[in-house]
Amino acid sequence: MSANTITITDNRTGKQYEIPVENGTIKAVDLRQIKTAADDFGLMTYDPAFMNTASCKSRITFIDGDKGILEYRGYPIDQLAEKSTYLEVAYLLLNGELPTEPQLKDWTWNITHHTFINENIKKVMDGFHYNAHPMGMFLSTLGALSTFYPDAKQIFDTDCRQKQIYRLIAKVPTIAAFAFRHGIGMQYAYPDNGLSYEGNFLNMMFKTTELQYQPNPVLERALNVLFILHADHEQNCSTNAMRSIGSAQTDPFSSMAGAAAALYGPLHGGANEMVLRMLKEIGSIDKVPAYIKRVKAGEFRLMGFGHRVYKNYDPRARIIKQIADEVFEVTGKDPLLDLALELERIALEDEYFVKRKLYPNVDFYSGIIYRAMRFPVDMFPVLFAIPRTSGWLAQWVEMLEDADQKIARPRQIYLGQRTREYLTLDERPAENKSAAGAWTFTQSQE
Ligand code: ACO
Repeated sequence: MSANTITITDNRTGKQYEIPVENGTIKAVDLRQIKTAADDFGLMTYDPAFMNTASCKSRITFIDGDKGILEYRGYPIDQLAEKSTYLEVAYLLLNGELPTEPQLKDWTWNITHHTFINENIKKVMDGFHYNAHPMGMFLSTLGALSTFYPDAKQIFDTDCRQKQIYRLIAKVPTIAAFAFRHGIGMQYAYPDNGLSYEGNFLNMMFKTTELQYQPNPVLERALNVLFILHADHEQNCSTNAMRSIGSAQTDPFSSMAGAAAALYGPLHGGANEMVLRMLKEIGSIDKVPAYIKRVKAGEFRLMGFGHRVYKNYDPRARIIKQIADEVFEVTGKDPLLDLALELERIALEDEYFVKRKLYPNVDFYSGIIYRAMRFPVDMFPVLFAIPRTSGWLAQWVEMLEDADQKIARPRQIYLGQRTREYLTLDERPAENKSAAGAWTFTQSQE
């Protein structure tokens, strides 16, 4: 019997099975041989929300949730945040190594020269209502872009794939800024290829009448760090969506529209927006204890707290807290920061949060910095999506090149009725009819 195996005894049949253990996992399909009869389908695992299931092998991002460690391709996040740039990190995520000087030059040139979007895409964006949420516009525009680039369907042509990667990383800030300006009724500001990736984004967001927008270097650098921190986070909800949609060999624009939709949710990338709304609702420091009491009573969750993987301080939250001071020196301090710090202090001392290992996550402080930089609250999830583009694409490429991957298609445990005889309208029991009647009534009320 090999040491790297596990022996399972099926008490239903008394049979024993030796299952290989590799990388601390067993293959779920190896359980299929465990049957009670020849026509039995075989044992499956039940794991809604993937609480204990690895969906892939990856070499991109490492997280140790208990120790609060995050690394991209082996480089600790704090070193990257301190020394690198977002575009360099995007290259690292996609290619596995930091670029050499000529590689970085070529990469930057290509990203910079794909920042414009087709004028007809502008018309698509113009069609949105004046108060459309920018994240709704962002994800819809990504889907629309797929129709402008039919070549993107050639996902196994590596040159063509590389072109879509340039396009997506280059165009997401443009789409994001245009969505913002549509909402405030300002003419779109076109990309300025003389600026850095972050500087150009600030230009497209905030340029008014100046001939050339000059980004504040401190804010440009802070945005750069925030982009690095948000670039990837292994198999989170939106990345799982990107891989899952991509596994059907869908083009990357459409796959990314789905990933962005997942990110939009308040339990994921929409949390930073919810944190700001929560802090505003609390209003002042003296109201914090009462708010925490309501959280503990289960009325609602403390937004920006807790994480599926981190059961320790989110390392990204720590770095964000540090750059907040630099930003506030330029913008002036946001009073919501004191409120957030007090909320964190009380929560971290409270038995409820300690027992459940609930710590501030990346979203707890990012919104306060974004607000100080004059980004409106509904742009926060979009600000998350811009840098996450490189992570989604890196994970998508890894999935495409992984021989183990096939179309993602989970199993289910079917607990519903089986093989019933069809009932005509007259034969159906009375309670079914009244349920249908109630539905008609509700419809007519709208
Ligand atoms: N406030 C209060 N209680 C919480 C919170 C919170 N923010 N998060 C978790 N809990 C409690 C749950 O009620 C549960 O308690 P119980 O055991 O008494 O039932 C326990 O902690 C475990 O929570 P789960 O929901 O099982 O944890 P899960 O891993 O499924 O959820 C999640 C993780 C979604 C992030 C959750 O912590 C949450 O809703 N946080 C608030 C939203 C948020 O900040 N999301 C951003 C995440 S980071 C990101 O996506 C970028």
